[in-house]
Amino acid sequence: MAKKDEVTRRQFLNYTLTGVGGFMAAGMLMPMVRFAIDPLLKEKAGQDMVAVTDVSKLTNEPQRFDFKVQQVDGWYESEVTQSAWVYKENEDVVALSPICKHLGCTVNWGTDPAHPNQFFCPCHLGRYEKDGANVPGTPPLAPLDVYEQKVEDGKLYLGKAKAR
Ligand code: FES
Repeated sequence: MAKKDEVTRRQFLNYTLTGVGGFMAAGMLMPMVRFAIDPLLKEKAGQDMVAVTDVSKLTNEPQRFDFKVQQVDGWYESEVTQSAWVYKENEDVVALSPICKHLGCTVNWGTDPAHPNQFFCPCHLGRYEKDGANVPGTPPLAPLDVYEQKVEDGKLYLGKAKAR
């Protein structure tokens, strides 16, 4: 005869199977929950804008600015460095992504001696006009992305780079 506080074989099997079933259910549900709330997390990340420079430092010549942003991927947060080519066009500020639209190399301003007033990608000789438009006949097939921006208290804030 079993003692009162002893776990019977049937109880042990019940506990074990319940535990394993619980783990399996959690394993199936977690990706679904994450998939459902991921757009909310991304939306939150997209709202952040970062102060990059004083507008008074900008000229008509594109200058490269590096800045750090908090990147949120699900529950994982990290700090990454991003760059932008920024210049003034009359009273407007233009902020372009340096990521080449061909295969993702970094473009530079005025480094091709034959085309000093264009952005140049050294990887496959891609070229872009000052406004970021891709030069026909060179590898890139789309213009450089443009950063979301705002000016507040004389400072330029940049958000996400968006395709045109
Ligand atoms: S990656 Fe820029 S031209 Fe190919």
